[in-house]
Amino acid sequence: MTTWSVLITDGLEESGKAILRSACEVDDRKGISAEELTQIIANYDAMIVRSRTKVTADLLAQAQKLKVIGRAGVGVDNIDLAAASARQITVVNAPQSTTIAVAEHTLAMMVALARNLTQADASMKNGQWLKSQLMGSELFGKTFGLIGVGNIGTQVALRAAAFGMTVLGYDPYLSDEQIQQRGARPVSLESLFAQSDFISVHVPLNPETRNMLDGQAFSAMKRGVRIICTARGGVIDETALLQAIESGQVAGAALDVFAVEPPGLTALVAHPKVIATPHIAAQTVEAQARAAVDIAEEILAALQGKALRWKVV
Ligand code: MLT
Repeated sequence: MTTWSVLITDGLEESGKAILRSACEVDDRKGISAEELTQIIANYDAMIVRSRTKVTADLLAQAQKLKVIGRAGVGVDNIDLAAASARQITVVNAPQSTTIAVAEHTLAMMVALARNLTQADASMKNGQWLKSQLMGSELFGKTFGLIGVGNIGTQVALRAAAFGMTVLGYDPYLSDEQIQQRGARPVSLESLFAQSDFISVHVPLNPETRNMLDGQAFSAMKRGVRIICTARGGVIDETALLQAIESGQVAGAALDVFAVEPPGLTALVAHPKVIATPHIAAQTVEAQARAAVDIAEEILAALQGKALRWKVV
C-alpha cells in the first residue's frame, strides 16, 4: 500500500490527524519557521496549513513531491494559487467548516459594538461604574449592509434579521434573486453605503477586494455607521478607517482581521471606538473539529485520485 507523507504546519485537531494516519505518515510541525519549512518541504506529498503559513512560489519551487495543499479553513489568500497551479499542485480548502463560527462572531462583534461591551467590562475591571457614559444603540429597526452574501453572509443575514434589522446585500457574483433567497434585499454598493447603520464585510481578499473600503467608500457612507470585519485584513484600508473614526464619520469598528497579523498595538487597535480580536472568528471547538475532518478527507481523496468536493485550483 502506498504511504504518503503529510506535513501539518499550523496544527490540526486530532480527529483530522487520525483520518490521515489511515493511509499516510503525518508530521505535525505546528509553528514551523519559514526557513525550516523551505528546507524540509521536498519530503512531503501533501501539506495542510491555516493562515499563518505563507505558501509562496519560492517555497513551492522546493516542493518536488508535493501533490496537494490543504487549507484547514476558508481563505486561501496565503497560498500562491498561480504558482501551485503551474506546478500541478492541487489546492483544496474546507469552506463550510467555519461558517457558523464566523457568523456568530460577527454578530457578537456587532452587539458588542452597539452596546460598548468591551469598554463597559474594561471600566468595571478598573473599578469604575460608567453607566451614563456608555449609552448604546439598539439593533432593532436598524439597517444592516452585508458586503458579500456567500455562505457566511447568508448565516449573518439570518441572525441579523432575528434582531429585527433590515438586511441589505451587495454581491456582484449573485443575481438579485439569489441575494433575496439568502435573506437580504439586493442593492448596489453605493446604495448599501448610503443606507446602512451597520456594515459587515464577507468577501475574500483578492485584487478586486483589496482596500474595497477606502476613504472614498467611508465618505459615501451614512454618518455614524459602524463597521464589522471578520473576513480578511486588506479589504479595509486601515489608515482610512482610522481617519473616518477620528472625524466621526464612522462611529466605531469591530475588527477580527488585519492587513498585517499580528498588527501589534497600532493606533487603530488602541482606539477606544475599535473592538479588536486576534483573528478568532473561526476559533471554536466545533469549527476546528469540522475543518480538521473536512480537510483530512479532502487531502486523502486528492492523494487517492478521487473526486474532490472543494478544489480551489
Ligand atoms: C478562515 O479563512 O478559515 C478563517 O479566517 C480562519 C483562519 O484563518 O484562522
